[in-house]
Amino acid sequence: MDRNKYINRKAFLRIITFGTATAFVALWANMIGKHKHLSAKPVVTKLNTAKLGNGIFFFERFILVKSDASVKVLSNRCTHAGCRINQEIAGQLVCPCHGSRYESATGKVVQGPAGIALSKIPYATDAKTGEITITI
Ligand code: FES
Repeated sequence: MDRNKYINRKAFLRIITFGTATAFVALWANMIGKHKHLSAKPVVTKLNTAKLGNGIFFFERFILVKSDASVKVLSNRCTHAGCRINQEIAGQLVCPCHGSRYESATGKVVQGPAGIALSKIPYATDAKTGEITITI
């Protein structure tokens, strides 16, 4: 048998390790690239809040809480593990993943496991039309 035709065990493991590491780095770089692409492109939403009425409105990237006295825009990402908050129960914003609850008027935590309030998202108001612009 010609032993030169075969690679030894050590060389085989080196090739497998190098191949796996290369594939992992390529996959990771691809994921990072996609994430940067998404976060680099802000989405602008314009809303005429007068037409909405009062209440809690869930949008793809934020939650709008409107009353006669104020308009608040809150992040819809739960501060526990990032699930999208998409429901309101008895005036509280409720995360569907692990049940964290937030005060809808302020975004403060009412019940964990989340420990940090929802972030407030700034917006601009057009004084003439009353339309608000949210960039997120
Ligand atoms: S992600 Fe919302 S409670 Fe865990």
